[in-house]
Amino acid sequence: MTEKPDPLAVPFGTVFCDWMATARAEDGPLVYGGSPEPFGDLTISPAAHVLHYGSSIFEGLKAHRQPDGSVAIFRLDTHVARMVTSAALLRLPEIDPDILLQMIVDAVEANADEVPEPPGSLYIRPTFVGTGADIGAAAHPAPSALLFVVNSPVGDYFKGGIRPLTLQLETLTPRTVPQFGMVKCAANYAMALGSTMDAMAANEAIDQVLFATDGDITETGASNFFLADNERVVTRHLDESFLHGVTRDSVIQLARHHGYEIEERPIDPEELIDWSERGEAFLSGTAAGIAPVGTILYSGKALTIGSGQPGPNTMRLRQALTAIQTGTAPDPFNWRTTVQIRG
Ligand code: COI
Repeated sequence: MTEKPDPLAVPFGTVFCDWMATARAEDGPLVYGGSPEPFGDLTISPAAHVLHYGSSIFEGLKAHRQPDGSVAIFRLDTHVARMVTSAALLRLPEIDPDILLQMIVDAVEANADEVPEPPGSLYIRPTFVGTGADIGAAAHPAPSALLFVVNSPVGDYFKGGIRPLTLQLETLTPRTVPQFGMVKCAANYAMALGSTMDAMAANEAIDQVLFATDGDITETGASNFFLADNERVVTRHLDESFLHGVTRDSVIQLARHHGYEIEERPIDPEELIDWSERGEAFLSGTAAGIAPVGTILYSGKALTIGSGQPGPNTMRLRQALTAIQTGTAPDPFNWRTTVQIRG
């Protein structure tokens, strides 16, 4: 077998573990064989619903190597619950949460020897696609579907590691459509791509586009958005228009635990000018973790956020989150699920 590259030295998500788990729903409930199989290509019909009508949802969660050598999955139940909701919203067949949870655990157990030491981690990607072979089914949900869980050993999501990111504020083109905003579906990422690619082509310093349709700052193409200072953290209140990030929720719970006030409310782009002088900004996501923002390009101006470097509150929250994930701090919220390592 060819040796795999060091996951911390290659782009995020480009190395794959040896094992995956798959289950199919064929005009009925999801059936899982109960054990992982070797990672490999999948077979679906060229007439599969997903290829024509976009019936595809996914999750992103992580497992972390613990100080005693064991492996713990972070916020497993919450990710499973969100995927069950996404399937229902995209009218895919129902996902039995027990089956999905078992598939994730089985895949991670089988791949446990490929989980890197921190700061690396194992990225877990469950994906559910409509497979019914019927190109006339534009106005019908897929009656059959394929669920699969693949794993990828990863390092930092953003090239260059922990550094102040540059965001472009986009006030005209929305990230997605309102009724899909909170669904973790493939189409949302495809919809954000045009604005992101155009911004990056115009300015190669741009890392992400921050969507603020009609002056309502919500999220970037890959993460939620926060403002912070010594007393409080601020993020957009939840509604159906954007993704309900699990890391967003973890940040809120952690920040409250550490004594910060939490403000979940609308954020107006004009407010960034004030924050840029005295506050911090960061992104949150499973892949990105807590990622500091140094500059926001807005209305032809470059707003330097604080000193332009990662802020102390951002780094404090990042360190607190990482410590729980990697088992160097207690787990007061019961966020870790330890998996068995096969001998
Ligand atoms: C994640 O953060 O896990 C996501 O699913 C975002 C993706 C762009 C990597």
